[in-house]
Amino acid sequence: MFEAHALSGSKAEQYAQLVEQARGLLHGERDRVANAANLSALVFHALPDLNWVGFYFHDGRELVVGPFQGKPACVRIPLGKGVCGTAAVTGQTQVVADVHAFPGHIACDAASRSEVVVPLYRDGELIGVFDLDSPIPDRFDDEDRRGLEAIARVFMESLA
Ligand code: SME
Repeated sequence: MFEAHALSGSKAEQYAQLVEQARGLLHGERDRVANAANLSALVFHALPDLNWVGFYFHDGRELVVGPFQGKPACVRIPLGKGVCGTAAVTGQTQVVADVHAFPGHIACDAASRSEVVVPLYRDGELIGVFDLDSPIPDRFDDEDRRGLEAIARVFMESLA
């Protein structure tokens, strides 16, 4: 049985531990839905001040909600729309300190105040995005971005 130990030390150390836990959790499994579901649960419970953690997958036309933790969410997001659609088309992680100030932000949970979205690409092909929302304004800094990009890489490597 997988057991997630509480994270400790500096933020960088905590992300290093979380990345290792993610590797252990996904080890030996390549199913996209299973791994997205377990990773959402791991991260949602490991990191403080989050109200939504999950995945949107590209269906060839737009983003469609996948496994997540949090309140029910918007099902489909057009490419280029909202924080998720922007991450998807730019291929760049979006760190949004104040979602109300982001043009076109799509409010799924009214509690969300800040957000980070990591795009998921394989060989130049858009697979989806990894999305985290917080009820705290300016919750995510550059260290969070790096740590969450590392966790997203563990997910992408698990599918290979
Ligand atoms: N706020 C996102 C939509 C997804 S929810 O946060 C779960 C956006 O603007 O793309």
